[in-house]
Amino acid sequence: MATVDIFGKVQNYNYIESAAECDPVAFTKVVESRRSVRVYTDDLIDPEHIKECLRLALLAPNSSNLQTWEFYWVRSAEKKAALVEACLSQPAARTAAELVVAVSRHDLWRERNQLMLDVFSPEKKIKRASAYQYYRKIIPLAYDQGFLQWKGFLKRVVMWLRGFSTPTPRSPKSLSDMRVMGAKTVALACENYMLALRAYGYDSCPMEGFDGARVKKLLELPSGAEITMVISAGKRAENGVYGKRIRWDSSLFLKEI
Ligand SMILES: Cc1cc2nc3c(=O)[nH]c(=O)nc-3n(C[C@H](O)[C@H](O)[C@H](O)COP(=O)(O)O)c2cc1C
Repeated sequence: MATVDIFGKVQNYNYIESAAECDPVAFTKVVESRRSVRVYTDDLIDPEHIKECLRLALLAPNSSNLQTWEFYWVRSAEKKAALVEACLSQPAARTAAELVVAVSRHDLWRERNQLMLDVFSPEKKIKRASAYQYYRKIIPLAYDQGFLQWKGFLKRVVMWLRGFSTPTPRSPKSLSDMRVMGAKTVALACENYMLALRAYGYDSCPMEGFDGARVKKLLELPSGAEITMVISAGKRAENGVYGKRIRWDSSLFLKEI
């Protein structure tokens, strides 16, 4: 079966990309100093910095590299005011210098899949038959849930039966699986964006406290799109962090088996 071939075999593409030397101390500082900031100063953010942080956001790993995300940097004063209101006028939005809305476009998987097919099409320079077959066969099989999700239902049954005898990928088999997959992809990019802001000396706050219907209307998004979060950014005010970071003992979360 094509899946076994693609996932089971190590591909030899004659491509080498060496791992860059990184600075763990600098990285730790960025991660540890990122806090959710609810009050910002009146300082502005250099637009070039936002652009660079968004560029870094787009380097995040994402499901099948379909890049089913969109980031709306809301720059118009009028739209920004409406967005703040849709974010329930919470201080993290109200006092922010910049607001970015992170949107899952899992509804656009076909279009994004076509872009990947264009990259790997046999006529192109990058000849990768297995990658081409992956986007031609596996992705439609996995992502297409069919009218009223009939394909998803069929997949659920087939995968359940197949799963008795062999390891079997069981998702996405419904629209809610698609939404979860989209949220994972977008959330990873959001973290890239927030860490990048920190590295540039700014702070941020991810927000799910907003009126999704209003934000969607503001951005003129179709019903299939889903807002993952709104991220505010700015310079941290003295009273910007509400308290010491609370994290419980790691033994609650980290398991070695
Ligand atoms: C998906 C998500 C949604 C959040 N929504 C809000 C929000 O609407 N308003 C807010 O003030 N903080 C929000 N937060 C921030 C969390 O409250 C914060 O990350 C948590 O308390 C841990 O604090 P820290 O980020 O400073 O480590 C959200 C965080 C995440 C990941």
